[in-house]
Amino acid sequence: MSEERKQTAVSLRARKGTADKIVALTAYDATMARLLDEGGADVLMVGDSLGMVVQGHATTLPVTVDEICYHGRAVARGMRRAHLVGDLPFMSFQVSPEQALVAAGRLVKEGSFESVKLEGGVVVAEQIRRIVAAGIPVMGHVGLTPQSVHRMGGFRVQGKGEDAALAVLADAQAVEEAGAFSVVIEGVPESLGRRITERLTIPTIGIGAGPHCDGQVLVSYDFLGMIRGFAPKFVRHFAELGDQVVEATRAYARAVQEGSFPDHTHSFADAGAAPAKGAVPEKGASAGSPERSASYGPGREER
Ligand code: KIV
Repeated sequence: MSEERKQTAVSLRARKGTADKIVALTAYDATMARLLDEGGADVLMVGDSLGMVVQGHATTLPVTVDEICYHGRAVARGMRRAHLVGDLPFMSFQVSPEQALVAAGRLVKEGSFESVKLEGGVVVAEQIRRIVAAGIPVMGHVGLTPQSVHRMGGFRVQGKGEDAALAVLADAQAVEEAGAFSVVIEGVPESLGRRITERLTIPTIGIGAGPHCDGQVLVSYDFLGMIRGFAPKFVRHFAELGDQVVEATRAYARAVQEGSFPDHTHSFADAGAAPAKGAVPEKGASAGSPERSASYGPGREER
């Protein structure tokens, strides 16, 4: 992890070519954002991947600016140190630079975002220029761009073969020339990830683009092992929370059915009654303190 200092588009840009790789993850809610931030993520992205992993759609295409903003506000409340990036969803920026600027402005004003990300290269360079000129940092996204799923004929690796590689490289260079502070490279051969990283002067953040990028990003539900079934080749599970959630649910169901949960230690006492054993206020918790944890339900003082 880089230093404790708040991460910004400027501090991230300065890490180009250093050994200090950028650690990025997606986040969609405050509780997860708090954990990922505490774990040292430099960048939290509210990606339009939320259409698939949160909303259950088959693609990212249905996601709206309102939805990105809703999740952005939630993530912003949970995080402290990371830089918060919001995705411009499908058809919120493709029409014109003006449309892109209006959508980017909404992400900053209504979604609490510190920068915006948009998919595409040469064809969106004017959009990037316009947003950056208005003072909003932009992260590009080239290679496998999920909003073009139908044009690509599915979620397919891009840039295979010299002609295709040159096209992705040209996109990445167009993004840099337009003023982006960094660029996501998704779903390209390792050799192309390296080539682009060596050519650009802004940090590259890879997802399925090999180990040579200046940083890496993964969808949080993927790296935590919460997505069951097929996992793309580039995903590594750093935990198996999916299995743990299923097991925990089974244990909870058993406890509810047999009546062992809740017991006295998880029940509130009536006024004047002695608190149940195990339910004494923790050291430091002042009775009547308005301080609340992020947990749902009555505060510590309620015993
Ligand atoms: O939508 C998304 O979450 C993304 C990241 C995985 C880069 O684009």
